[in-house]
Amino acid sequence: MKKSKMTLKINSITKFGLILLLLMSFSVHANGNLSGSKMDFAIVATNVAAAQEKATGDDAKKVDAKTEKVATADYDKIDSDFVGIGPGNNTVPFIIAFVVFLFATIMGRRKKCKAKIVMVIVSLLAIAYVAKITYTEARALGRQQGYAPVQPIWFSHKVHATQNGIDCEYCHVDARTSRHAGVPSLNVCMNCHNQVKEGTVSGKKEIAKIYEHLGYNPTTMQYDKPGKPIEWVKVHNLPDHVYFNHAQHVQAGKVECQECHGPVEKMNRVVEYKEFAMGDFCLDCHRKRGIDTSNPYYKHYKFKDIKEGEKITVDKIGGADCSSCHY
Ligand code: HEC
Ligand code: HEC
Ligand code: HEC
Ligand code: HEC
Ligand code: HEC
Repeated sequence: MKKSKMTLKINSITKFGLILLLLMSFSVHANGNLSGSKMDFAIVATNVAAAQEKATGDDAKKVDAKTEKVATADYDKIDSDFVGIGPGNNTVPFIIAFVVFLFATIMGRRKKCKAKIVMVIVSLLAIAYVAKITYTEARALGRQQGYAPVQPIWFSHKVHATQNGIDCEYCHVDARTSRHAGVPSLNVCMNCHNQVKEGTVSGKKEIAKIYEHLGYNPTTMQYDKPGKPIEWVKVHNLPDHVYFNHAQHVQAGKVECQECHGPVEKMNRVVEYKEFAMGDFCLDCHRKRGIDTSNPYYKHYKFKDIKEGEKITVDKIGGADCSSCHY
């Protein structure tokens, strides 16, 4: 008698909270997983293994010719190194946990049910799992770690930076001197692609897109057609209220591209490798990293609260002040 009263009490206390949590989970889940851009996380996280098994080499190209997609299998094969970044696609576990929760709750509330306490435990476990998914996805909402959009041309950093040894700054010329690293114009591509008309992975197909956009005719070697601008999909996006400057980091701070962007030179498709979060990313480095005091700029700089011989970290020059990073 006492026991079942207690069980019922647990049920009624948790009921309201659970319904609230469920509504919240649904909304976060729908927002994060079903919106267009976020689907790209899902593609990276789930389809890679399957694509890798199914299609290698020639097979991959066959699959592609059919679907008119870029060499998907090859594209994703290497990206499998980066699986596990981002929230992934939680739709199936989400639905299973939800069904288990409903089942256990309904069973547990039936008078005939003998194993009430077991049902309560099962429904609590299921809801805990839903809560965990919700937490992961809610954290990922404003941020985009793992975001790896498909680009209009199959431009591979692996092919260019690793296999052909091209320096990052050959293309991202502005990284050292200005706020934005910038993405090269297609004219930069033509320094090489007026000669290189074919690639190992994609044959002529992808390079032909450069010509198409520029209105270039590779047979006559004339720019004799109307071109159309290319729209690369931006991978890294800080919120508008944050100020970030590449030159400050690359030139003055001597921070390597890879420390923030990960091993881009191994990627066929650029993925946001790290979570660009205020605390764990920006501030964490600013609190640990020493500045380059040989920089002539610091000769006349008055450091506050620094003892003789102490390492001067970025936060000591204002790198932790709200106004340094926020407008
Ligand atoms: C041959 C030219 C070229 C070279 C060399 C190159 N990149 Fe890129 N990079 C591009 C182009 C084009 C894009 C835009 C398309 C894309 O995102 O793949 C890009 C995009 C990026 C992005 C994503 C930008 C965004 O949208 O947020 C990062 C980060 C990046 N490059 C870093 C590097 C690093 C680091 C290196 C050196 C290891 C490098 N790049 C070498 C041409 C180049
Ligand atoms: C201290 C971290 C950090 C370093 C070092 C860094 N980046 Fe970035 N990069 C960022 C952030 C943050 C963004 C997003 C900026 C935004 O959305 O305003 C970004 C954006 C980009 C973009 C997109 C276009 C743009 O300029 O916004 C490219 C391309 C890029 N980085 C390339 C590079 C290259 C190449 C290097 C090395 C020469 C490099 N980055 C070094 C943090 C870094
Ligand atoms: C410094 C020379 C150089 C520059 C600049 C350059 N590329 Fe390439 N690119 C190459 C070479 C070499 C290859 C052939 C690699 C191979 O054998 O697959 C290549 C291959 C390619 C391929 C085919 C890859 C494959 O394996 O199928 C594409 C697509 C491509 N480049 C796009 C671009 C774009 C877009 C730009 C400008 C943002 C660019 N490239 C700039 C040298 C360059
Ligand atoms: C891997 C280390 C690292 C990361 C990550 C990093 N920074 Fe920095 N940052 C530095 C260094 C080093 C300097 C000092 C450069 C100098 O000597 O002027 C700096 C300086 C700055 C400054 C100038 C501070 C001042 O008051 O003079 C700003 C603003 C800044 N960073 C913003 C950001 C933002 C925003 C992010 C995250 C998106 C970020 N940084 C991530 C290393 C980092
Ligand atoms: C080194 C750079 C840096 C400094 C210093 C900094 N922020 Fe941020 N802040 C960021 C970045 C990057 C983001 C966006 C990424 C994120 O949401 O974590 C952000 C996001 C935020 C947000 C929005 C949070 C959200 O979830 O969208 C608030 C509020 C904020 N900062 C307040 C502050 C305050 C207050 C200070 C001073 C105590 C401060 N920041 C100092 C870089 C910085």
